[in-house]
Amino acid sequence: MKTLVVYYSYSGNTKYIAEQIAQCLNADIISLEPVIPYSSDYDTVVAQGQEEVGRNYMPELKPISLDIANYDRIIIGTPTWWYKMASPVLTFLSQNDFSNKNIALFMTNAGWPGTVIKDMKELCNNANIIGTKEFEVSSDISKITKDEIRAWTDSLKQ
Ligand SMILES: Cc1cc2nc3c(=O)[nH]c(=O)nc-3n(C[C@H](O)[C@H](O)[C@H](O)COP(=O)(O)O)c2cc1C
Repeated sequence: MKTLVVYYSYSGNTKYIAEQIAQCLNADIISLEPVIPYSSDYDTVVAQGQEEVGRNYMPELKPISLDIANYDRIIIGTPTWWYKMASPVLTFLSQNDFSNKNIALFMTNAGWPGTVIKDMKELCNNANIIGTKEFEVSSDISKITKDEIRAWTDSLKQ
C-alpha cells in the first residue's frame, strides 16, 4: 500500500505531526503552499484567516509535485482556523477526487476544535475514512508524544 501525507501548516505544529506520521507509516509527504504566501505576522494571519474561512475562500495553491492517483492511502492534516480547516486545505479537498481511496484526517488546534473533522469528512464523501484525530497542541508541540502519534498511525493499519 502506497501512502501519502498531505498537510498545510502556518506555524509548524501540523508540519511536526505530519512528519512524524510520515515516518511511522513510511509514507511520502508534501505540504500545500498557497501561491500568495501568508504574512509572517501572526496577528495579520489570524485576522485574514477569519475573513477567509468566513466566506469559504479557496486560495490558489502551487502545483503539487506528485500524482495523488498513485496513492491508495492519503493522510490529510490541517490547523484549525476559526473553528474550520485552514483555507489551503479547503482548496485541496475541494479540488481533488478521493473516491474509493482510504483517507485519514487529522487536525491541530489550541483547544477550540470546532467542526474541522466533520467539514473535512463532508468533502471526502466517496472516500473510505479509515481514521480521524484531533491533536490539541499547547504552546509546546513536543507534549504531543511520538507514542500518541504512533498509536494513531497503528490504528490505521488494520
Ligand atoms: C488564523 C488562525 C485561526 C485560528 N483559529 C483557531 C481556532 O478556531 N481554534 C483553535 O483551537 N485554534 C485556532 N488557532 C490556533 C491553531 O489552530 C493552532 O495553533 C494550530 O496547531 C496551528 O497549526 P500550524 O502550526 O500547523 O499552523 C488559529 C490559528 C490561526 C493562525
